[in-house]
Amino acid sequence: MAQSTGSNKIKTAVFISGAGSNLKSLIRFSKNKISPISVDLIISNDRKSKGLGFGKIFKIKRKIFNFKIKKDAEKKILFELKKNKIDLICLAGFMKILSKNFIKNFKGKILNIHPSLLPKYKGLKTHERAIQNKEKYSGCTVHFVNSRLDSGKIILQKKVKINKNDSPEKLAKRILAQEHKLYPKAILKISNL
Ligand code: GRF
Repeated sequence: MAQSTGSNKIKTAVFISGAGSNLKSLIRFSKNKISPISVDLIISNDRKSKGLGFGKIFKIKRKIFNFKIKKDAEKKILFELKKNKIDLICLAGFMKILSKNFIKNFKGKILNIHPSLLPKYKGLKTHERAIQNKEKYSGCTVHFVNSRLDSGKIILQKKVKINKNDSPEKLAKRILAQEHKLYPKAILKISNL
C-alpha cells in the first residue's frame, strides 16, 4: 500500500458505532514511530458513540452520518474519504454493513475486526454462541472486507481460551484486550502490500 508523502504514513479512517476501545488502541499505535498509519478521520453512524470522545481528545476530525438512507450516507462518506485522501478504512465496532457499491467505489483497502475465530460465528452474539456450543477456544480475527458479511480474506487471528463458567461478558473482555493488540499487528502485516 502506497504510503502518502507528507506525513509519510497511510492516511486512515476508523469507522465506529460504540465504545471505541479499538479506535483508542489504533490512535495510540498510530503515534508510534513504527506505525505505518496515521488516523486522520473518524466516522460514526451515531453521535452518541462514546468513541467520538477519543477523537476529540486527540484532535482528530470526526464526522457523523445518519444511515436512515444508506445510499445517501455512503455517498457522503465516499466524498469525505476522497477529500481527506484516505487510503485505508479500519472498521472497529461499526454496526452498519457497507454496500457492494461502497466497497467497489472506495479505492483503498478496508479492514474489519471481528470477535470470533472466523469463519466460525459470523455476525452478532459471537461469545454467547461460542459458549453455548461448548467451544474450547474463541478469539478474534482481522480480515479484509468484501461484500459478504465477515467473509473477506483473513489477515491475522488470535485464539483465546474459554474458561469453565465463562460468561459472554467475561469472555468478551478478555477477547477485547487481545483485539487491541491484534489490529495493529494486522496493519503492520498488510502495510507493504
Ligand atoms: C469489538 O469486539 C469488535 O470486534 C466488534 O465490536 C466490538 C467493538 O468494541 N466488531 P470497541 O467499540 O472497539 O470498544
